[in-house]
Amino acid sequence: MVVRNVCNFIVISVHQELCSCNEDNLEVTLKEYDLAINSGVGYEKYKVAVDLIPPDQGPVYSSILGVLTTWLHQIVRVDCKVADGKSHRASSLINGVDLLMFTAFHIQCEKGERLIWDLPPTRTSIIVFVADGCNFIPDNEKKGMAIPMNAWIWAVNSHDHNVFDNTNVRFTMNTVSLSISGSRATFIPSKWQNTYMVSAATVNLHQNQLESFDCPLRFTKRLKTMNLANNKLTKFPPCFIEEDSNINYLTLYHNKISDISAIYERTEPKYAPSIKIINLSHNNIESLQSLLTMDDLRVLDLSYNNIKEIANDAFINLEHIEQIYLEHNHIHVVRPYAFTMNTKLSILDLAHNQVTEISQEQLPTSLTGLPLSVNLKNNALPYTPFKNCARGNFYNPMIEISMSSNPLVCDCKMIEFDQCTRWLDKLGISNVSSRSVFKDIEDLTCASPKETAGKKVKGMDFLRSCIIVDKCPSKCSCQLENTNTVLVNCTSRRLLEMPDALPVVPYASVKLHLSHNPLQMLAFRSYLQDLIELRVDNCLLTTVTPAAIAALQNIKVLTLHNNLLQKLPSSTKNITLKRATNVTLHNNRWVCSCESLWLPRWLSKHKYALWMPGKILCNYLRKPVEDLSEVDLNCSSTAYTDTFLAVSLVLSALISTLVIVFCYRTEINLLLYSKLGIRLGSNFSYGDLFHPYDVFVSYSQDNYKWVVDTLVPHLENGDCSYRLCLHYRDFPPGESVVENIPWAIRLSRCSILVLSKDFLRKEWCIMEVRAAFQRMLLVSNRLIIIATDDISPEDLTPDLQAYMNTHDYLRASEPCFWEKLEMFLPPKQSVEEIQSSMSLDDPGAGDSKPRKEMSDGENEEESMGDATDPSAR
Ligand SMILES: *[C@@H]1O[C@H](CO)[C@@H](O)[C@H](O)[C@H]1NC(C)=O
Ligand SMILES: *[C@@H]1O[C@H](CO)[C@@H](O)[C@H](O)[C@H]1NC(C)=O
Ligand SMILES: *[C@@H]1O[C@H](CO)[C@@H](O)[C@H](O)[C@H]1NC(C)=O
Ligand SMILES: *[C@@H]1O[C@H](CO)[C@@H](O)[C@H](O)[C@H]1NC(C)=O
Ligand SMILES: *[C@@H]1O[C@H](CO)[C@@H](O)[C@H](O)[C@H]1NC(C)=O
Ligand SMILES: *[C@@H]1O[C@H](CO)[C@@H](O)[C@H](O)[C@H]1NC(C)=O
Ligand SMILES: *[C@@H]1O[C@H](CO)[C@@H](O)[C@H](O)[C@H]1NC(C)=O
Repeated sequence: MVVRNVCNFIVISVHQELCSCNEDNLEVTLKEYDLAINSGVGYEKYKVAVDLIPPDQGPVYSSILGVLTTWLHQIVRVDCKVADGKSHRASSLINGVDLLMFTAFHIQCEKGERLIWDLPPTRTSIIVFVADGCNFIPDNEKKGMAIPMNAWIWAVNSHDHNVFDNTNVRFTMNTVSLSISGSRATFIPSKWQNTYMVSAATVNLHQNQLESFDCPLRFTKRLKTMNLANNKLTKFPPCFIEEDSNINYLTLYHNKISDISAIYERTEPKYAPSIKIINLSHNNIESLQSLLTMDDLRVLDLSYNNIKEIANDAFINLEHIEQIYLEHNHIHVVRPYAFTMNTKLSILDLAHNQVTEISQEQLPTSLTGLPLSVNLKNNALPYTPFKNCARGNFYNPMIEISMSSNPLVCDCKMIEFDQCTRWLDKLGISNVSSRSVFKDIEDLTCASPKETAGKKVKGMDFLRSCIIVDKCPSKCSCQLENTNTVLVNCTSRRLLEMPDALPVVPYASVKLHLSHNPLQMLAFRSYLQDLIELRVDNCLLTTVTPAAIAALQNIKVLTLHNNLLQKLPSSTKNITLKRATNVTLHNNRWVCSCESLWLPRWLSKHKYALWMPGKILCNYLRKPVEDLSEVDLNCSSTAYTDTFLAVSLVLSALISTLVIVFCYRTEINLLLYSKLGIRLGSNFSYGDLFHPYDVFVSYSQDNYKWVVDTLVPHLENGDCSYRLCLHYRDFPPGESVVENIPWAIRLSRCSILVLSKDFLRKEWCIMEVRAAFQRMLLVSNRLIIIATDDISPEDLTPDLQAYMNTHDYLRASEPCFWEKLEMFLPPKQSVEEIQSSMSLDDPGAGDSKPRKEMSDGENEEESMGDATDPSAR
């Protein structure tokens, strides 16, 4: 009853306009302030998990005086707000409050007002003092601002950098919660040294500028929470790791700590600190050695540091740790068994680091199958940690992994991940699926190889086709088809040589595609033995080595058509391609000589596998190789029984014939052509009459005069009056000549290349020009080369050399030049012939229609003769 009147009485004498007075329940008031002051400490979050303060052991507020008065359970709360910028005496603000009445004094200074502290330490009824933004001036310099003996909660937030100096802790006895923050103090004054804070349970010294803290105050086992966040500490305070410390929660975030040797394992007598939570986030820690045995440690926050390396045994002593935060560091490597001992771990956060490799073995082993969440987002991981999980290594279905924003490599190694997710989905444990284990599986995206970049991992079927990156030859692409076939695709990659090695995939056979490359030799490579398919068509092959053909025993598909092959090694005759299903050999320069008489037999042995055997023709005889007989070549088998002379005669005759055929073939052909109207050596695959031009003439500027003054009039005004395509005249004006060359080639029935030194130096170096001509050389065989006199074989590039060695070309100065040239130019076809040629399409080569008749040698010669008749008089 008496108490009820306290405030009524006070109202008269206290500064009515600044302060208000209320009576309240003692316990409620204490709890309210305790919570407000210690809210920043953050242990609320972990109360449940860590059970930091058991409910029955909370801070016990008691005092000698309190024993006499707590029966009242009442407290007077004086709340003052000053905003006048003036000085105020503490005593005058609470003037009139009963000296014996428990008091909570809360003052807020809006403009840094000065509070003259004139309350004596004997004023023991002040139980709670909270000041926010005030500057303190002790009325007695020597005694300072003495914390009264019974002040259970003392919280001062002040910019004043003398606040530690001015505060006198000598009388404090019952202070349970002490908080001094916001000051610019860089150290704790020596007069605090060795003061016993016998009752302190919570100490907040956050947001000062403290540079070191070595426990100048003495605490007892009552101290549970220490908050030193937002200071400038550089060293982990060792005093909290000492034997008499019973601290639970240590907050050190936002400091400059780089030295944490205090919590490293040492050889001295060991004991386990009772600490439960350490928050070291936002500091400067760079590496982590083996940490001290801390049996009670549940939460360790090391996020936002500069940690680059974690020792293998860093966490080995933390047997009961439940949460480790390591996000936003610079960790590259997670050591193989870094977390193996942490069997109670439920949260491991490694997000925003540079981890490049993590495997199942590096993750904590949870023997109890407790839920475990691992965050690996924003690292440098190329693969997911789970491989083989279907093969029985998967131990904790309650694991949860997040790993989006990693540069995943979606190659064939992802098959195991793919299989793992399928297996998880079929596992049949309730709540366990690929989605429960890989939490953000929908967000996983591929970063490489480039064919898959940006694609979602979830939608990809790695079992049906996947890309192999390991050991794939540069320029080629390798992929696994159907889990047991590897396709190495090097089609059109401008390869000059065969790749040295191919990717090795166990139990898979290999297909190698080398078509459309300027390759000249099919040579031995150890991988040839493993191939089931080899495509080398449309190259510039002149040679197949014996070792290569011997290694191809297992081949099923072998394409060698559209090359420049004259022969296969003679050892081929003993080789049977037992498994072959499709072998192509047509459109080559097969030389039919006595040495190659084995070839027809070999062909007939493989007839079941040969693609269009009738089209495999002898180069000059124009007869299908399979029909070749000894009679054709005049090699009598009896020659061997004849005298040496006879043999020599036959051989020398043969050789000289061959020499003549090879060296003077243009002349021989010309002879045949002019005398008999038979076109031999030049079975060009001209485009048909629907092409707008007959001939596209390509030349270098140096030969302009000769082309325009001599060549063009001759061809346009001659008997045949060819339609010529000339770039200075027929190209769209204003457009680049280079860009239009492929276009001109396509619109013309054939092309003339005036090959000079100048052309090789300039135009031939332009990729587009070269590619266009190479295509003509390789595919359509419609190029007539006129070499100027300054060209010698050494000037030529290998591809041109190979071509000119095996093909006819003309020199502008050679005899009968014009007649020879005419021989190479397309014959004027009749309209009926065009129609008939269109109805019979050659499936092998798109634009080589006139070859339709070649399967029948006689017909061909007749029709060719007919075709040339109108033009050749
Ligand atoms: C540690 O402190 C940081 C910064 O205040 C906070 O974000 C984080 O949640 C704290 N960690 C723990 C485990 O309490
Ligand atoms: C499975 O999921 C249900 C509902 O989401 C939840 O209530 C249950 O606890 C989960 N069981 C396990 C074993 O996680
Ligand atoms: C091989 O690569 C070429 C060029 O990249 C492509 O056109 C072709 O389709 C590929 N072949 C196969 C069988 O994938
Ligand atoms: C081919 O086999 C025969 C016997 O079958 C043998 O005499 C000959 O030397 C072999 N030739 C080659 C090139 O291996
Ligand atoms: C054999 O190979 C050629 C060239 O690749 C192809 O055009 C043809 O269709 C194939 N034949 C068979 C029976 O597979
Ligand atoms: C040209 O004809 C010869 C036979 O005279 C033949 O061997 C060669 O393969 C043919 N070339 C082309 C490209 O058709
Ligand atoms: C074969 O040789 C005889 C004379 O030795 C010659 O008359 C005949 O024309 C030759 N046959 C061929 C196809 O060269």
